[in-house]
Amino acid sequence: MRTFDFIVIGSGIAGLSFALKAAEKGSVALITKRGRSESSTAWAQGGVACVMSGEDSFDLHIRDTITAGAGLCNEQAVRTIVTEGPAAISQLMAMGVNFDVRDNGNGAHELDLGREGGHSKRRILHFQDATGLEIETRLLERIASHPAIELMENHMAVDCITTGKLGYAMENSCVGVYVLNEFSGDVETLRSDVTVLASGGCGKVYLYTTNPDVATGDGVAMAWRAGAAVANMEFIQFHPTCLYHTEINSFLISEAVRGEGGILVNERGRRFMENQHPQKELAPRDIVARAIDAEMKRSGAKCVYLDITSKPQEFIKSRFPTIYETCLRAGLDISREPIPVVPAAHYQCGGVKTDLYGETSLRGLHAIGEVACTGLHGANRLASNSLLEGVVMAGRAFEKIRSQLRKPVDISLPEWRSGSVQDVDELVVISHNWDEIRRLMWDYVGIVRTEKRLKRAATRLRNLHTEVQEFYWNFKVTRDLLELRNLVTVASLVVDCALSRKESRGLHFTLDYPGTDDARFLRDTIMRRI
Ligand code: SIN
Repeated sequence: MRTFDFIVIGSGIAGLSFALKAAEKGSVALITKRGRSESSTAWAQGGVACVMSGEDSFDLHIRDTITAGAGLCNEQAVRTIVTEGPAAISQLMAMGVNFDVRDNGNGAHELDLGREGGHSKRRILHFQDATGLEIETRLLERIASHPAIELMENHMAVDCITTGKLGYAMENSCVGVYVLNEFSGDVETLRSDVTVLASGGCGKVYLYTTNPDVATGDGVAMAWRAGAAVANMEFIQFHPTCLYHTEINSFLISEAVRGEGGILVNERGRRFMENQHPQKELAPRDIVARAIDAEMKRSGAKCVYLDITSKPQEFIKSRFPTIYETCLRAGLDISREPIPVVPAAHYQCGGVKTDLYGETSLRGLHAIGEVACTGLHGANRLASNSLLEGVVMAGRAFEKIRSQLRKPVDISLPEWRSGSVQDVDELVVISHNWDEIRRLMWDYVGIVRTEKRLKRAATRLRNLHTEVQEFYWNFKVTRDLLELRNLVTVASLVVDCALSRKESRGLHFTLDYPGTDDARFLRDTIMRRI
């Protein structure tokens, strides 16, 4: 057993920001499943939404966030995160993070603020179209040289260790984590009174996603198994514009492209957002994604098109270099031809329920970033609010934890016991089950839902759960098996939450209950393991 002052699971903006703060107070185990920069943060193109100009105001950002959230935002969470945004941005800049600037016309520089769907003002700080990568790179530079941080790459958290399961007569608390060391194949025991989940979302639960492979819902599944409350998992955001290409998967075409004048057209070149919403292509994402879905179903086409050819080539190349180059490598010059796009799973708006300090309902377990449900996003996240939430909540969680730090309780944790030392005999079963979950979630639990399809998904997921549990208990654990176990759990949570919400709201749209029912459902969907 190894003991740390802090265990942080995940190496995106929230985990790295927290680890850097915590390292000033004690030892940190920073656990990350694959390479250090493999996170959704590193893939984030758009930027960070924050009030940074005299033409904008906190009230407008708060109003836009609440409008997108379709009645379910926690107003206190929105106000806190929005108003603490500028200070968090200053901290990022002080750590070397660059954001694009432009000439303000008087020879001085000002931040070049972008626009995205649902925002009434230009307020997106960005670094070209690779903002997340810039943040990730700069934070990792600091992590790598910090003596108090042990960066454990290719280590996957298996489960929280709780006093309840160990049989201690005290309030149930998280007192450590079992972690699979992929180099040795062994499961190690880490002890800490502070465990912070910053493990991101669950896009890989769907067949088509803009997320990296690591996004398998591990944090939500672990917290759930440990008994923490989970909320609002029915609200999965589908990004309207993922590149549709036979060889390139999961490549996002940033909403900023629409913010700079890109329009959506169908296979006949006809613009179709004009009749859907006053903000047209810049309507909130749920509306744009549903309109694309309806357009594709109506025409039978495999995709729609995003057309930015009205802009000069030089502008496109300098504002969207990553998108321009990636598409060019795929044989598509986006300055001359429209980009084929489809919606894809993008963001988990629900997650492990926390307060405004990242505290979950399980003592000792904290959650920040996409894995958490603070109430900021409600039923639909406003674009680019998540990097902001990640960095603000990392700071808030740390301040609260710091104010309560005390000598660790002397507890000895049992070593991991493998049910059997056998290696998994049929890897094909794992990959088959993995594919099946992702396909059934796409087909039955997608942008437009029905009770019948949700129930079908629930039944199939129950069977898959039984199969996966058999594997889990009978064979040596591997990352693939652990991810599959987490995917089944998280998929079931999405379905169960969706089945319990008998209305349509934000990202949850069901043909059986197309209206919004405030009298019964103006509340979070809270799930707890019985
Ligand atoms: C994008 O660039 O479109 C993604 C921004 C976000 O999801 O916040």
